[in-house]
Amino acid sequence: MSRRPINPSRRISESGAAPFPSSLHSRSRSPSYVSIALVILGVFLVVGYLYRGQGTFGSNKAVSRVEGDFSCTLEVERAIPVLKKAYGDSMHRVLHVGPDTCSVVSKLLREEDTEAWGIEPYDIEDADRKCKSLVHRGIVRVADIKFPLPYRPKSFSLVIVSDALEYLSPKFLNRTLPELGRVSADGLVIFTGYPRHQKAKAADKAKYGRLAKLRSSTWWIRYFVQMSLEENEGVIKKFEQAAEKKSYRSSCQIFHLKSYN
Ligand SMILES: *[C@@H]1O[C@H](CO)[C@@H](O)[C@H](O)[C@H]1NC(C)=O
Repeated sequence: MSRRPINPSRRISESGAAPFPSSLHSRSRSPSYVSIALVILGVFLVVGYLYRGQGTFGSNKAVSRVEGDFSCTLEVERAIPVLKKAYGDSMHRVLHVGPDTCSVVSKLLREEDTEAWGIEPYDIEDADRKCKSLVHRGIVRVADIKFPLPYRPKSFSLVIVSDALEYLSPKFLNRTLPELGRVSADGLVIFTGYPRHQKAKAADKAKYGRLAKLRSSTWWIRYFVQMSLEENEGVIKKFEQAAEKKSYRSSCQIFHLKSYN
């Protein structure tokens, strides 16, 4: 979003660099040419500045990308080979829920024998063409996860969630987590930040409209028990083995839960 306004002004100043020296050296150029160029340059700079003022979302995102080690969605992308080892055939029909889901879904679709869908819980104003195409084809949906998901029970073999549950209040978490369990057949994988990421996540408030609440693993595990969601010990072991073999170390907490029977 903030990229667009910057480009035109940059282009102008790049091409505008040429007239300045030449007009200084040759008197043949009329001075009005220079002033017109200056006015145009000024207009672009002002327009660019105004756009950037509105684009706080984009700039926040840029900040979080740079500081980046707490984006659990990026962790999902990195973890795909390990997840494949741990889940095997259950990586057949995957739903990812979280920000930047287009990027996760595109990556999953490049895997052999994997179909993938995505739910983007936040606005995607800065979607690129590829992402727009995924939305257009119904592969990625923009949907508020506070409400029932638009899928039948057990529509997916595996549901992977990242950077999404920590923005829900307990009331909505109570509704959404069972929903995620409902649409999955073989399992539910949750990627979430550690409480020490809390400060870094504060930058996301403008984007998600709410401060993330990053919980400890004891909190989550107790909560899963309350929700009757069981951890999948078999998969946890396989995941750990595969992670070690592939030298994968996550900077997020990862929980492997069984779907409801
Ligand atoms: C959410 O569910 C848990 C477990 O069933 C319950 O203890 C808690 O009171 C619920 N919270 C809200 C806000 O409904």
